[in-house]
Amino acid sequence: MHEHWFNDWREFKETRLLTPENYEENIARFKRYSKRATGRALRLQVSKPLSRVGQLGDMVQGKEPKDFYFRSGADVLDALAEKLVMVEAGYLLGEGINPKGINPLEHIAATTTSAGMAAIYAVAMELVRHMPIKERKGKRFLQGKTVYTHTNNVLGERMQEMGLEAAIKIDTTQPENVESALRENRGSIVGIFYEPVTNPLIGYTDTRAIHQIAKEYGIPIIVDNTFLTPYLQQPFRMGTDIVVHSMTKYMNGEGDMLGGAVIGPKEFIKSLRGWQTTTGCVIQSPSLALSLFDRVARLSERMEIHVENAEQIAHYLQNSKYVEHVYHLDLGENTRNGSSGAVVSFVMNGKDEDEKIRREAALMQYLIDNQGTILYQVSLGDKEHLMIGETTLGTGKSELPVGLIRFAVGREPEASEVIKFLNKAFEHVYKN
Ligand SMILES: Cc1ncc(COP(=O)(O)O)c(C=O)c1O
Repeated sequence: MHEHWFNDWREFKETRLLTPENYEENIARFKRYSKRATGRALRLQVSKPLSRVGQLGDMVQGKEPKDFYFRSGADVLDALAEKLVMVEAGYLLGEGINPKGINPLEHIAATTTSAGMAAIYAVAMELVRHMPIKERKGKRFLQGKTVYTHTNNVLGERMQEMGLEAAIKIDTTQPENVESALRENRGSIVGIFYEPVTNPLIGYTDTRAIHQIAKEYGIPIIVDNTFLTPYLQQPFRMGTDIVVHSMTKYMNGEGDMLGGAVIGPKEFIKSLRGWQTTTGCVIQSPSLALSLFDRVARLSERMEIHVENAEQIAHYLQNSKYVEHVYHLDLGENTRNGSSGAVVSFVMNGKDEDEKIRREAALMQYLIDNQGTILYQVSLGDKEHLMIGETTLGTGKSELPVGLIRFAVGREPEASEVIKFLNKAFEHVYKN
């Protein structure tokens, strides 16, 4: 189904990309790769002056980089893409686990999109659009039961529009479910898509296990690494084929722009890049690309703070009499320091559902009335601490426990202040 890029890639992945070691890559190396500057001034114009007659034709024919117009290519996009490859797969370069050293840029490429959803849609389209229309009937994705809301739409309705069936949803945290779904749907699965840490119930899917199963069937794995980021886990070393990101979140870290990324086999990205040029599914401006380039460079500094704050806050919540349950995991050797990321969900205490809903609503009202420390706001990965009550959002997700709060732990203020604020908030919410 994916012969044009998948076969060579699979061999490379099996022999070079996977690393048997646990997650303890030297953080200094990671910082070095993510900080590395381009060494050249990056142009911030949508179009670039041509330097010789006939150059445009050569660019269009692919004899030179197609960087005459921002939608087709630009040095700032290349610089950002290189950085994304390095943060997700820089571990391949020499030292320790791979003394011979492989330049990841020779095998892996990246491209950026206008939003995380655009990245997910682009990947789904790239996997499907080469398939003759008459062969699409009955084909479908296999997806994690819990993925970001709109990802369900992409792998469901949007793919049905392309002549596929809606994705099969399974609980990928139990890899045997993947095994049986692949067995029962042999020949019809286009790709497996999941988020290694789910939102908001923090369920963990082990990519090493999914890889072991998927390789028998020759099916690409696509991982949405938005929550963990390459700072906490690099899914390529565990067996994924494609990584997607909403760069709106931690990769940007300031909550001031939308962005998305796809990192994957060079041939796959090359073909996807062509699709992006014609659909305009790209970052909106060179200056946004440059901002993201600078922000990815500081990912590790930001993540250190997110994770440290999340640990302290999770610990506080676990010991609070106002909290029934906290969703926060120790992922051991699978992530840096075992962290499950900086989204910590919890259920409000209450004798029945009515009370839990009442307490949830009161906590959200407290955030509205006492603005500053924690904001009543969707999204995650920002400097600010963002909290939403899932039941009172009114989206009617019946699979979630009543009274569930999603807390996207930020960087400022520090955890001790947030804990003081939460203490006061809980006392107020439970005063009668
Ligand atoms: C895990 C995950 N993937 C994808 C997206 C979509 O990203 P964007 O809002 O940048 O389109 C989100 C948004 O919240 C997300 O949480």
